[in-house]
Amino acid sequence: MGRTSNPGMLAVTAGIAIAVLLVLLSATNVLTDGLGYKLAAVALAVATLIFIFYARANNVEKSGYGALVFIVAVALIIPALTITQQQQQASATANQYTQTLQNGAALFGQYCASCHGFQGQGLVGPQLNNNPTVNKFTTADLTRIISAGIPGDPANPTQLAMPAWSNAYGGSLTDDDISYLVALIQSSNPAYTKLNHLPNVNGFSYVLQSLTDPTQIAEYNQQLKGGSKPPASNFADLTKDTKVTIDAINSTSGFPYGWQAVGTQTADITIKVGTTVTWSNSSATVHNVYSGTGPSNITTAFPNSGIISPNVASSDYTYTFTKPGDYPYFCAIHPAMVGWITVVA
Ligand code: HEC
Repeated sequence: MGRTSNPGMLAVTAGIAIAVLLVLLSATNVLTDGLGYKLAAVALAVATLIFIFYARANNVEKSGYGALVFIVAVALIIPALTITQQQQQASATANQYTQTLQNGAALFGQYCASCHGFQGQGLVGPQLNNNPTVNKFTTADLTRIISAGIPGDPANPTQLAMPAWSNAYGGSLTDDDISYLVALIQSSNPAYTKLNHLPNVNGFSYVLQSLTDPTQIAEYNQQLKGGSKPPASNFADLTKDTKVTIDAINSTSGFPYGWQAVGTQTADITIKVGTTVTWSNSSATVHNVYSGTGPSNITTAFPNSGIISPNVASSDYTYTFTKPGDYPYFCAIHPAMVGWITVVA
């Protein structure tokens, strides 16, 4: 009896082949949601039933080649199944964690940043970003504090030092929202993420990308720079040039537009007295140039520009700096676009 002409053995081999193919398709994510694994299990079960049926009918060699192939195939598929499923689970968990932090960051930007600062660095409320005191709180502590708020004056218990946020206490957040915020705060503590085998990502780094309102983004940048001069390492030295161009560009991270001095990677430059600066625009939208660090701090150090249109050289704005000093500038349409020019003698 030739093995290849045996319909039972052919069906068994085909079943195993289909199962292996399905596992491969699942492992490479061609088939998702575990569908491939379920179908593979069905194919294997059918192959097993056929095998048992034919083995009982004595139509295959019980201890022969066919049985061996079958056992080896099953032995290979089981660990392959477990390993790929574990990998998929691990990457799904990691994605879910990132999503949790992004949700927390978006909530934080809307509800908490006004008092705790956009980076959780602390303003009127305490620092929450990797604060040693806050790091000592358990998940239950943080959940309770954020949900129910913090009492202020004991003589006046309805006056809270920190508002209650849970909708169970009249706040605007759900229990899920609060769990995202707790995860966000905990992610800023490297000891916590290490202990819990979580990716070492500080969720506060997602706050900027969650902001859509230019005024909030300007506030974010202002808080980051403190409205003060960026560190010297941010500045490109252009003191050898007599003409400098600062271009409005589509930026790739954070806010969609930014300034960049041509030939550098930065909006902050050092030039010498007498240098002419031209602001041009190769971005996708209109901008202008105001003197100062933002809408709440417009100075008269140099005149404001008109509209600088994208790729219209005649609308570029030019100013020649004649006195040493620090000259912050920003776009009044997009206050998040801030840069600094230091003029030296
Ligand atoms: C109106 C200002 C304000 C807002 C908005 C605010 N907080 Fe607070 N928060 C405070 C103040 C003030 C304290 C300190 C209260 C105290 O200890 O007396 C505080 C304390 C905390 C603490 C405890 C920190 C510690 O060291 O004791 C946590 C956690 C916290 N806030 C989380 C949040 C979260 C999350 C949000 C957003 C949902 C938020 N806060 C929004 C003002 C605010």
